[in-house]
Formats: sequence, structure tokens, C-alpha cells
Amino acid sequence: MAIKEKMQPIQSNEEIIEVRKKHFLPTAFLYYKTPVQLVKAKGNYVYDEKGNEYLDAIGGIVCISAGHNHPKIKEALLEMLNNDEIQHTSTIFLNQHITNLAKKIIAEAPKKIDRCSFTNSGSEANELAMMAARHATGETMIVNLRHGYHGGTGATLSSCGQHSWRFKAQPVASVTSALEPYCYRCPFNQKPESCHLECAKNVETTIQTSTHGKIAAFIAEPILGVGGFITPPKEYFHEVAKIVHNYGGQYISDEVQTGAGRSGGNFLHTKDLEIDADMVTMAKGFGNGAAIGATLMKSDIAESLAGKVHFNTFGGDPYQTVQALKTMEIIEEENLIENARIMGEYLMDSLKGLMKKHKLIGEIRGKGLLVGIELVKDQKTKEYAAEECKELMELCKNKGLLIGKGGLFGNVVRLAPALSINKKQIDFLVKVIDESLRELDKK
Ligand SMILES: Cc1ncc(COP(=O)(O)O)c(C=O)c1O
Repeated sequence: MAIKEKMQPIQSNEEIIEVRKKHFLPTAFLYYKTPVQLVKAKGNYVYDEKGNEYLDAIGGIVCISAGHNHPKIKEALLEMLNNDEIQHTSTIFLNQHITNLAKKIIAEAPKKIDRCSFTNSGSEANELAMMAARHATGETMIVNLRHGYHGGTGATLSSCGQHSWRFKAQPVASVTSALEPYCYRCPFNQKPESCHLECAKNVETTIQTSTHGKIAAFIAEPILGVGGFITPPKEYFHEVAKIVHNYGGQYISDEVQTGAGRSGGNFLHTKDLEIDADMVTMAKGFGNGAAIGATLMKSDIAESLAGKVHFNTFGGDPYQTVQALKTMEIIEEENLIENARIMGEYLMDSLKGLMKKHKLIGEIRGKGLLVGIELVKDQKTKEYAAEECKELMELCKNKGLLIGKGGLFGNVVRLAPALSINKKQIDFLVKVIDESLRELDKK
């Protein structure tokens, strides 16, 4: 049956907006002047309450890796329900799904990382990683990156490199920030072809000037997601990992956005970049939209926690773990990482083709199916084109394409579709962006 015929009577957008205004916190933001109500989804498409179809080029919010409502995930969940499988249990009892997932994710982890703990979100995964690093080292200081984002909880907000996500009078506990490895807007005014990795060396200067000389951890995303898909060079990470270890710290690689095969290389981008990480955190695409995250770590860090209790009521729940396990199986069986590589290159090349036509495009960057388009008012001055980015999103939405945005000033288009996207869908995506940019250029 077509999606449209399966539509149920639903509340109007106005009714929903009214309740949100009355009962939500004002921190909950909406995309678009006329917000979209999403009610159904299949593969790479989502549908509003009227049955209008949109190509989902941001994968929920970088969460859909195998595709919306994948039949194999549906089948597995329905089977569990039909068999009256236990809906909730925790790590206090034995259950095979969580251990099956543990084995599978550890098989994808960088060498020497062989322990894991499951959470409900990326914030919790990072929270646990930072706590473990502090406990293992006996140090408190965490080094983060300006422009980085690691979640909305206490420790993660403390290491947030963006003002919009921080709140007044929140203590920033024991965190110091290194300068961003942002080649397009290098804080050292260098060019990638001739620089001396000043940004990596700045991690050392930051430790030397704002800590007592030892740190608990360094945390960074291999590609800075919320920051606007800032994509540092591979060498950056090698240099930084050496520095972090020299100062006694643990390297935490936050793969909440980059993980689950999105880079088109390994399941974890940390492995593609050969980062000498001590911990890797995951969420988003790991569960294809299920509320599951993970903290992976080396045994010595895990062992340092012995004798203490760490418990997460819903972390590793059977339904979440089955969704993550099925997602991993689908990614493997359907060769989705290879598809992400091929389609990612095709997308990047097609978008680079648009650069010649549209002055608003400052840079196209990313890896695999994590692609950013930085919009600027002027290619020389690189003035942030934030309003134009909003307008572009609006124009694309009206043509049936959902895209995301990011960057410190909201001027970077973020594209992160499900890994199953095909060439025809990418052609549509690029055509819509091209047409919308043309309309914007005219304005
Ligand atoms: C890199 C990164 N880390 C952590 C988080 C926090 O994840 P969650 O929203 O699931 O708590 C996010 C969320 O956007 C993220 O992008």
C-alpha cells in the first residue's frame, strides 16, 4: 500500500505548535518558517502529514544509516514483540542481545580497544569516557577543541566549543580549549599546503599554558559535526595523539556523527585516520535512530574503574541492542560502507561542479556521506552567509529535499543521508541545491 493511503487522521501542525509553545522549553528549535510534521518514512524518504515526500539528506539528524524503517529491523523487532521477549532488563541480568552487540562492535574497534559500555545517547557516551579518563589518570583537565560539540550534559557542555549551546553561569569544570583545525578558516592564517600543523602544536601549547602539565584527556571528533563538518587532515590526529599521550592523557575520539560506516572506509573513522585513540564514543547512526550510544575503551582504562559502580538503567536494553546489531548486519550485508564511499565521492564531485556557478559556495568538504557546503557572502572575505543558508534550506524543502545546517554561525549546509542513497537520489539532491542556489543568487 502506498504511504499516502496508509495515512491516519493526525493532529494539525497548528495544534502541535501550540502545545510546543505552551509546554516545551524555548530551547527546542524548529527548522523552517513553516515547520514540517514528519509522520512516515521508508528508506531515504520521509513523509509529512499530507503525504508529501521528501528526500532525507540529513538522515533524521545524522542518525539514519541503514535507511528509515529498514524491513530487517522491523522484522526483528516485530518478532521480539510477537514472542513476548523481555522488553526491559538491564545489565544486572544476563541477556544475549547486549553481549552479541558487544562482540560485534569490539570487532570493529581500533586495536587494543576491547571493552564497551552502552548508553542511551552520545552525551552519555562522552560523559562516561571523560569520567573514565579522569578516574584512570587521577587528573581532571580535559582538552577540547573550539567549534567542537560533545553533548548537552554536565561534562559534555563544559567541553562545548560553541557559544549557542552553552548556558549562563554554568561552571566550565576543568576544561581548556585548543584552537580549531579548521583549514578553510585557519586561526593561524596558514594554507593547508604550506602549514606546519600549527593547530596540532597548539594542543601542546594549550596544555603547557593552561594546565599543571598533565591532563586527563583530549576529546575531539574526527570530523567536527555541529561545527559544520570541519575536516582536519589525517596528520593532525597523529601529531595530537602523540602530544596527548606525552602529557599523560587519554585520547577520546567522538564518533557520534562519523561512526557507523559513514566515512566510507571502516566502520569507525578513527581506524581510517589511524588515530591512536584510547576511547571511542558512538551514538546516532549506530542504532539507525534507536536511542543507543556506546563508549569503547582499552582494558587498562576499564580495569581502573574496578571496585566502583557505574549503572545506566536503559543502557543496553534488548530492543536498542537488537536495533544496533541489525543495523550493523545490514551495513555489512548490503555493502553500505562501500556504497557510502562511492556515493560520497560522487556527491562531492557533483557539488564541486556547482562551485564554479555559485559564488555563495566557499568550500565543499567532508568524507564519505558526511558532506558540508560552507556558504559565504564573498569568497575572498569569507563573510558567513547564515541567512542565505536558512533560505537555501527553505527553498530545498519546498522542492522535496531536507538538508541540515551547522557551523558556529549556521552557514554550513550539512548533508548526511542514509548510507543506502543511490545515484539517482544524489542527482536529485544536487539538482535541487543547484536550482535553489540559482534562486538565491538572483535575490
Ligand atoms: C559529535 C557529537 N557528540 C555527541 C553528541 C551528543 O549526542 P546526543 O544528542 O545523542 O546526546 C552529538 C550530538 O549531536 C554529536 O554530534
